[in-house]
Amino acid sequence: MAILAPSVLAADFANMERDMKMTEAAGAKWLHLDIMDGIFVPNISFGPDMVKAIRRVSTAVLDVHLMIDRPIRYVENFCKAGADYLTIHLEADTEENNLAALEKIRSFGVKPGIVVKPKTPAQALAPYIDKVDMILVMTVEPGFGGQSFMADMMPKVKKIRQMLDEKNPACHLEVDGGVDLNTAPICKENGADVLVAGSAFYKSEDKAAFAKALEA
Ligand code: DX5
Ligand code: ZN
Repeated sequence: MAILAPSVLAADFANMERDMKMTEAAGAKWLHLDIMDGIFVPNISFGPDMVKAIRRVSTAVLDVHLMIDRPIRYVENFCKAGADYLTIHLEADTEENNLAALEKIRSFGVKPGIVVKPKTPAQALAPYIDKVDMILVMTVEPGFGGQSFMADMMPKVKKIRQMLDEKNPACHLEVDGGVDLNTAPICKENGADVLVAGSAFYKSEDKAAFAKALEA
């Protein structure tokens, strides 16, 4: 069993309300919102106003993934925009600032999460493990949808699941990048329980069947 979090990056921005309703109608309970600043990653997506707009037309759990440099500067805006989970990148600031940002997120009643890029090892998460409600493991280099899944991240997912079992068993473990119906099972086998899917979900003909199969 897992939770599907469709990545809005692959939806039709000109028909956002229609696509968010269609996503909910397919049975998805979460939405994954990718925030890119053009500095931490080479792409720019959208900001807190889009999160606010999606909040108005959707009752889904909003899982907001900040790919921005020094995220502490912006966490308040995204909390107030309606995020339910707000995840920051471990690589985006110092440990001290990241821990302060996570605390700040929690002070707004939002669930904090930490994200690691492919090259960042599981061990780097040690200072954060009991301070978060979600750990996100990137299975592509962040910045763009539609890239190929990095199966070599699976030992890291497994290791983090073991760390969580010991120190924070209620914490979600999410994977993001190149997840489809072929790669989802290996993510689940290694301990992931939230699976982001952008292009695979929005390109699928039968979205309800996709959601059901991925979450099974
Ligand atoms: C990449 C983003 C992902 C992306 C996933 O930086 O964090 O959430 O939208 O897209 P797919 O599922 O197409 O790889
Ligand atoms: Zn993402």
